[in-house]
Amino acid sequence: MTLVSTRARAIEPFRVVEVLGRARELEAEGRSVVHLEVGEPDFETAPMIVEAGVDALRAGRTKYTQALGIPELREAIALRYAQHGVSVDPRRIAVTTGASGALAILTQVLVDPDDEVLLSDPGYPCNATFVETAGGRPQLIEVGPETRYQLTSDLVAAHWSARSKGVFLAGPSNPTGTLVERDELESMASFCAARGGFVLVDEIYQGLVYAAAGAKELTETALGVVPDVFVVNSFSKYFGMTGWRIGWCVIPEDAIEATERVAQNLYIAPPAPSQYAALRSLDQDAIAVHEERRRIFAERRNVLLRGLDELGFDLPVEPAGAFYAYAGLPDGLEMSSESFCRWLIEDYGVAVTPGTDFGVHGAEEHVRFAFTTSTADIVEGLARMRTALGTRGF
Ligand SMILES: Cc1ncc(COP(=O)(O)O)c(C=O)c1O
Repeated sequence: MTLVSTRARAIEPFRVVEVLGRARELEAEGRSVVHLEVGEPDFETAPMIVEAGVDALRAGRTKYTQALGIPELREAIALRYAQHGVSVDPRRIAVTTGASGALAILTQVLVDPDDEVLLSDPGYPCNATFVETAGGRPQLIEVGPETRYQLTSDLVAAHWSARSKGVFLAGPSNPTGTLVERDELESMASFCAARGGFVLVDEIYQGLVYAAAGAKELTETALGVVPDVFVVNSFSKYFGMTGWRIGWCVIPEDAIEATERVAQNLYIAPPAPSQYAALRSLDQDAIAVHEERRRIFAERRNVLLRGLDELGFDLPVEPAGAFYAYAGLPDGLEMSSESFCRWLIEDYGVAVTPGTDFGVHGAEEHVRFAFTTSTADIVEGLARMRTALGTRGF
């Protein structure tokens, strides 16, 4: 007998966290580990943001705030959209505890018991859990290089059923770093709207786009193409604030009131000091720091992609953004992604994430490398992998 619910028992572990845990254990034993697993920038939060957080604490900004966030921050986020040519009423912006908080709230707002939600496989693993927690049924749809690992209107139409309620997209995506195509977004949105369904676009890696994207690909917000999609975003990645637990979502007018009630009930309010810090992260001097970091990520990306290619990893679609490379294991290696990751970390001190963290389709043949560590570490990680693969005749 267990007190633990069937639902909780069915939740898959987030394997990257387990890899990180093992890496930390090895480091505690004095081993050196190259971290190519973690999806968080290695940079500290920019100093002016930290100062703003400290100032907020000292000024006693330690109480609950409005459930949807302080008005100044909602207005500043709206202004950032306006600077990118997209007009968003600040009332439509809900500040949340990270993109995770936004996903938790929005699935409660959008999903009824037994509603199906279409998700890409591979994709961000927690999405399925958010849908299930709301009583819905995640429908994993296999995607591959032929659609740049993105859902398309054809795939959505082919998998839509009488029970379908909506579609989750992400651009740049985790784990593949690919972008959503503008035309596809438009067709998926009109297909869903015609059936009373929703489209939710996770834009947490927005701002972290490096490659010259194809003309059809969306490097800016989906709101500029379809004004009434649900958009999720965060201060975690581009703004370098993972531990502050602060993000936001943009919702259509008619969902504001429900979102506010759900937010009040689930979390009361996002963390107050983090909101003031996030406000500072949108100022021009802070943006200059984020942009410099983006440039550094771009350099690291190039070093990693070149190195992986030389080692025989398969990267049919290069990541345009985020900080990940989702690669097929070298041909003929005959190892599952989990065995490969265990072997690399235990014997060579290189931490990477198995494809099994991101779904089932092709998961045993793929691994995700994160370029969230220094170029020197990436070079070292590649050298260690060269030695590892060398022992297998590569
Ligand atoms: C695609 C995607 N969405 C959402 C999240 C959650 O991020 P946070 O809650 O830190 O904003 C992550 C974190 O890695 C992610 O990769």
